[in-house]
Parts: sequence; structure tokens; C-alpha cells
Amino acid sequence: MAKAVFPGTFDPPTNGHLDIIDRAAAAFTEVIVAAGVNQSKSRLFDPDERIAMLTELTEPYANVRVGTFEGLLVDYCRAEGAGVIVKGLRSAADYDYELQMAHLNQAMTGVDTMFLPTRPENAFISSSWVKEIARLGGEVASFVPSGVYARLQKKL
Ligand code: PNS
Repeated sequence: MAKAVFPGTFDPPTNGHLDIIDRAAAAFTEVIVAAGVNQSKSRLFDPDERIAMLTELTEPYANVRVGTFEGLLVDYCRAEGAGVIVKGLRSAADYDYELQMAHLNQAMTGVDTMFLPTRPENAFISSSWVKEIARLGGEVASFVPSGVYARLQKKL
């Protein structure tokens, strides 16, 4: 299949993100892991740090590269010549939220969204909770790749 964009905030990337990257790399000819850099959520890692972590994680995949985008995701997809957005789904709540964005993105430019259900062992992992648990001194080693864990420990 064609070129796909896997967008996210990736603050920080988790095992769930890595699983989606792994499976998208097998399903698509080319995958761009695109970090949004103009979102309003409070950030722990700056864009350069998020790019560094994603670059490390995607290094084993010859058909995956990392990018950043500001503004509308569909504009980025168009600029990159990507016809598909890939999103991971952990739950029905994710689906409800993502479906509206998928419809809007499709209506704006015709770019389609393909959903990959997350593996069950990752279904409860989110970057937001990982950050909160780590900030409060909890153990997050089993929720994030080892390189991300090292950076989290250094930062907090
Ligand atoms: O990892 P996240 O926080 O769930 O990623 C959300 C992201 C960056 C994919 C989403 O907020 C997004 O697409 N933002 C770009 C702005 C945009 O296109 N907004 C209109 C969506 S219909």
C-alpha cells in the first residue's frame, strides 16, 4: 500500500506508538512518523528531543522516517504526497474521538484514516499517564522503550 503518515504528539513515544510503527511499516510502502509541534498540551519534551527519540526508535525500519508538522495534518499529508493517515486505537473512547477527526480530514482533502487496534498489552498506555506517573516517582520502565525511559529518568 501507499505512503502513510502516523501523526502524534509523542511526548514521549510509548510502547504503544512503537507497536503501531512496527505494524504500519509492514503494511505500507513508506511511513512518516510525524510529530505535531504546535499543539496546546503541556509538553515535557521539546520538538528536538521528541524527534531524537523517534529517530532512534525508527532506525531499524528502512521504510520509516520522522518528520514534524505545524498547522493542519491534512496539509502536511498533501505536501508529503501521503494519502493515508494511520492511527492506533486503544478503546471505544479513542474511536469516538478519532472518528470525528477522520471524517473531518476526509471531508477536507480526501485523505483517509486507517485505524490499527493496539495490542492488548499496550491498551492502557498513554503518554500523558506515563508522564504523570514518572513525575510522581512511579515506575514506567515497562510502558516505554528503553531509550525513552533513559531520557525520562534524566529529565525528571
Ligand atoms: O498524540 P496525539 O496528541 O493524540 O496527536 C494528536 C494530533 C497531533 C494527531 C492531532 O491533534 C492533529 O492532527 N493535530 C493537527 C491539527 C489538525 O489537523 N487539526 C484538525 C483535526 S480534524
